[in-house]
Amino acid sequence: MRIGILTSGGDCPGLNAVLRGFCKYCFNKIKDVEILGFLEGYAGLMNREYKQLTPADVENILDVGGTILGTSRQPYKLMTVKEGDAPTKLQMMVDNYKKLKLDVLVTLGGAGTHKTASLLSVEGCNVIGLPKTIDNDIYGTDVTFGFHTAVSIAADALKRIRTTADSHRRVFFVEVMGNKVGWLTLYAGVAAGADAILIPEIPYDEDKLAAFIAEKMKQRRSVVIAVAEGAMSVKEAAMSKKERRDYLVQAGGSPVTDRLASAMSAKTPFQCRSTILGHIQRGGEPCAFDKLLSTEIGAFGAHLAQVGRYGVTVCVRNNRLGFNILTDIAGRTKRVPSDGQLVLLCKDTGIYFGD
Ligand code: F6P
Repeated sequence: MRIGILTSGGDCPGLNAVLRGFCKYCFNKIKDVEILGFLEGYAGLMNREYKQLTPADVENILDVGGTILGTSRQPYKLMTVKEGDAPTKLQMMVDNYKKLKLDVLVTLGGAGTHKTASLLSVEGCNVIGLPKTIDNDIYGTDVTFGFHTAVSIAADALKRIRTTADSHRRVFFVEVMGNKVGWLTLYAGVAAGADAILIPEIPYDEDKLAAFIAEKMKQRRSVVIAVAEGAMSVKEAAMSKKERRDYLVQAGGSPVTDRLASAMSAKTPFQCRSTILGHIQRGGEPCAFDKLLSTEIGAFGAHLAQVGRYGVTVCVRNNRLGFNILTDIAGRTKRVPSDGQLVLLCKDTGIYFGD
């Protein structure tokens, strides 16, 4: 059996652990298996750049952050763009899949990777997706590998911010990754005892936020607010995507935490500061939970390859591994339900969500 495997899109802790779990299963359980690891994500498949993986390649990588194969972002919308007589990126990948006589292609990636995986599957390639992302936004799975490590990193950072905020009696806006969804901010914010959590799914009202801060500062020495990268005000949420983009450019293009810190400095008497956690949330060793989940997902993906279950992506539902059909989940996003149990219970404990 000839398997191609790649890691695509933004990296996250656990990619190597999944590669390891996948390869170990294959080397142990599948006769005459060959695994081609494509370099730099889909680019490796487009350019036929790969290395044949051996058991030695996947030793001692359970703890290692990043990806031994390298990754790159290959926007989905460019996959079928035709430039002159050249084949499209999609066509190049399908051709190479055939030329290399692959039996299956395994893609470790997030939402964008899954959209392309689904396209490849529609084009007749045998594809299996494995759900990666610190954003935890892949539709149809309770959790993705990398998410819980990022939660721990962000929660740790938020707790550290609390001590400096307390010392100076300050208000802090801490930006957590998550452009479209607020899962990471929600989990990290709750785990770190943040006073308020602002996520894209629940637009915030600046005046109400200012009133909340004023009230909170009567009770404690600092206010720490976890803010998702994609959090937006009620006014911004009412705009179309394009209007919002133009509006933000006009507003100076600064990150949401900077905008909030300056707005709240004007609306309250307190010193406000902003901090952006950035890519530190994606780096380094996976947490124990992610090492376990990644090993399990890798091995389960290999099992699906062994039994020939293609056109699917692995998922976790109620603590059990399963799979979804790629074409069913591609292009859909798992968002935080604003009236879901977690948000409502958090509100009951006094966490403010900006609405
Ligand atoms: O999708 C994962 C993610 O980390 C998002 O949370 C973030 O918006 C984006 O990637 C950052 O992308 P890049 O690494 O390309 O700057």
